[in-house]
Amino acid sequence: MLKKKLTLIKEGSSEFYIYNVDQGQIPSKSMNTFYNKKMEINRDISSLAINAYTDLYEQQKLIIIDSMAASGISSIRMIKECKNIKKIFINDINPEAIKLVKKNIKLNNLNKAPIKIIITQKDANLLFSEIAVTKNKISNEIQKKPNVISIDPFGTPNLYIDSAIKTIQKKKGLLCITATDTAVLFGVRPNVCIRKYFAKPLHTEYSKEIGSRILIYFISRIANLNKIGIIPLLTFYSGHFIRIFCTTFKNQEKITKYFKNIGYIIHCKDCGHRYSFGNNILEVSNECPLCKRKKNLDYAGPLWIGKLHKLNFINKMVNLNKNSKFANKKRIEKLLSFIKEENSMPISYYNLHKLSKNLGLKAVPKIEDIIKIIKKEGYQCSRTHFSYLSIKSDLDLSSLTKILIDLE
Ligand SMILES: C[S@@+](CC[C@H](N)C(=O)[O-])C[C@H]1O[C@@H](n2cnc3c(N)ncnc32)[C@H](O)[C@@H]1O
Repeated sequence: MLKKKLTLIKEGSSEFYIYNVDQGQIPSKSMNTFYNKKMEINRDISSLAINAYTDLYEQQKLIIIDSMAASGISSIRMIKECKNIKKIFINDINPEAIKLVKKNIKLNNLNKAPIKIIITQKDANLLFSEIAVTKNKISNEIQKKPNVISIDPFGTPNLYIDSAIKTIQKKKGLLCITATDTAVLFGVRPNVCIRKYFAKPLHTEYSKEIGSRILIYFISRIANLNKIGIIPLLTFYSGHFIRIFCTTFKNQEKITKYFKNIGYIIHCKDCGHRYSFGNNILEVSNECPLCKRKKNLDYAGPLWIGKLHKLNFINKMVNLNKNSKFANKKRIEKLLSFIKEENSMPISYYNLHKLSKNLGLKAVPKIEDIIKIIKKEGYQCSRTHFSYLSIKSDLDLSSLTKILIDLE
């Protein structure tokens, strides 16, 4: 019966079914079982990240929780594309999704795989708390904590982070967390952001970076409550979502040292100058260092002002991608190359198209030409994955404006 209602789809290493009624629909909560073709790159990146994590952090056999699996495509791809998996929990609260997961596991001949596959239909928080109990009630065995937890909800992940952190391996665990409530994180609804993430966003040309930094701040503070610290390995924005891959540590002194990564971004709404500031807010000047005006200063935060990625992790992913067969291989190559460049750059970016338009320039100069000129002047400059029309630099905005005008 079920078979008639299904359509076969191919993605990465796998084939899988989705419900006919969901085919061609705009991806939304109201689908019978969620599937979004545009998120394929998210799943490609997740497979690469888990393999990079295995190589760099955890050679032991992995226990993974895919807490919001929908059709199961992400789990199935992990099983087929990632090495060293021992056990995977495939979970979704939606009973229709779980029917499909079972079908898709069979379709990919994984029911006989050496990997232990546990399919559950639970609220993710309930599942996490059950797994967090380290002693199995029936066998009295000590259960090993999961190494990898993926959270991929509709909207905000904020409700699930505390229980995921309580459940994951305290040292060298890998959290993979998606947020799709980008309007909130990017400052369109600032009060909702304060309510959900305890931080004030800013609706600016670089709000995608601010939103990503707010999400990392939130994960890090919830981790701190649980006596854990986090290190971002990859922070990745694409289309309508942010996905953070971070690893856990439990050294208390290191957690305190990492407070230096928490701070604010100060933004002058008069001249557009911006800079990051540590968490001693009493020391912040009430005057813009560039235009010297006092009236229109604004801020975002608290948020993560430390590095967004770990270079050796990104390098590992770059190498793994070279050998991949992903449809998005070229896109990922470009994305990771921008991510590598931006990692050592200052916070924020400048949109050259907007800037040129505001200056009334006839044409937008080529990004690569501008980067060359800025570097020649002795400043740092790079592309950024957050916006392909923008650059990052330590050059101040008025000097950048002068370069653009001189180029005309
Ligand atoms: C964005 S979809 C996940 C997409 C999936 N990871 C993929 O790659 O195709 C979100 C899923 O979370 C499930 N969900 C929503 N609330 C949940 C909860 N509290 N616990 C577990 N699953 C939940 C939904 O049923 C939906 O299938």
